[in-house]
Amino acid sequence: MNTVNTDTGKNLQTDEEELRISQRRAEMRRIKREKERRKKRNLIISSCIAWSLVIILAAALIIVVRAKSVGSGGGDAKDGGKTAKAADSVPLKKSKGDSAEDLKMFEENETQETGGESEAVPQPKNEFASFYYYEEDKQDRYEAYQELNPEMDPGDVVWRVNAYLDKPWYEYDVPVDTYDDPLMIVNKYYTVPDGYRPPDLVSIDGYEMRKETGDAYLELKAAAKAAGKRIRAVSAYRSVDYQKGLYNRYLSSDSKENVDRYSARPGHSEHHTGMAIDLFGSTDGLRNFINTPEGPWVREHCWEYGFIIRYTADIEGITGYEDEPWHIRYVGKEVSMDMKEKGIESFEEYHVKYIEHSPDEK
Ligand code: DAL
Ligand code: ZN
Repeated sequence: MNTVNTDTGKNLQTDEEELRISQRRAEMRRIKREKERRKKRNLIISSCIAWSLVIILAAALIIVVRAKSVGSGGGDAKDGGKTAKAADSVPLKKSKGDSAEDLKMFEENETQETGGESEAVPQPKNEFASFYYYEEDKQDRYEAYQELNPEMDPGDVVWRVNAYLDKPWYEYDVPVDTYDDPLMIVNKYYTVPDGYRPPDLVSIDGYEMRKETGDAYLELKAAAKAAGKRIRAVSAYRSVDYQKGLYNRYLSSDSKENVDRYSARPGHSEHHTGMAIDLFGSTDGLRNFINTPEGPWVREHCWEYGFIIRYTADIEGITGYEDEPWHIRYVGKEVSMDMKEKGIESFEEYHVKYIEHSPDEK
């Protein structure tokens, strides 16, 4: 309601106006407070956003730094490899596009994790298997024999074991199953059966020997004669029974240990083959053959006619017999000349390497 102030002539404010003014002022205060409240709220929200960004950025930075240290191969000297250890604890997985370096590292890591079972782990080399005369079923024996003879060349270990030299003489009999074979071997392991008699014996110088051996012997004898030497056979084929009597006769006057160095036990004499001949020279008997003119000549030339000197001092450890320069064994020219050329002295070694096996096997 409007009224007029009579003193001034102005309209006096009514209660109503005062109320409206005070309401407007209240409204303005409310608006001001609201503005301040909004300002505060915006400030809080802004700082929240800012802190969140800071945290996100910090986290991103940590991830990048960590990824870089893994990619660089694991820790440098400065941090003492701590970074590498942290990286190792995180299993790395292959993914398309990995660099060669990453792949290599993955493989190394895999090897460590699987306890070395991956194909990257080198297997211990079998030092015997590379020889063409290696026989897989004898692996344990090769290893045992090498242990007993640590200085021995592995190739020698293999042929010696194949020749049964890891077994004591006369304690491991191997029956000769192809005893008609001209290259048959008879020794302290290989034995012919009782009653064995070669199929084609002929008599020369009053002694029996196989036909082919006899032919070669006649050639040798003729060549010796042409060189002014005179040789004659004093023993050739012997039956197992005959050897039994001979061996026992020696035993009656000598120790077994001694006799075994110069006389074969029955069944084990090379004379059973009909391809071994004992020789006399022109001036003395068998035991002194090497000091006759014929001894050195036979040693030098017998291989040209298909014979070898079967027992020499050098190979007593292989044959078990002392030097016998008078005992020759027919093996055929091809083999005798090959042994000479290869410098192989024992028939045992040659038998393993070139008769039982052949270099063509590999
Ligand atoms: N004297 C040889 C080794 C033998 O008896 O057969
Ligand atoms: Zn003999």
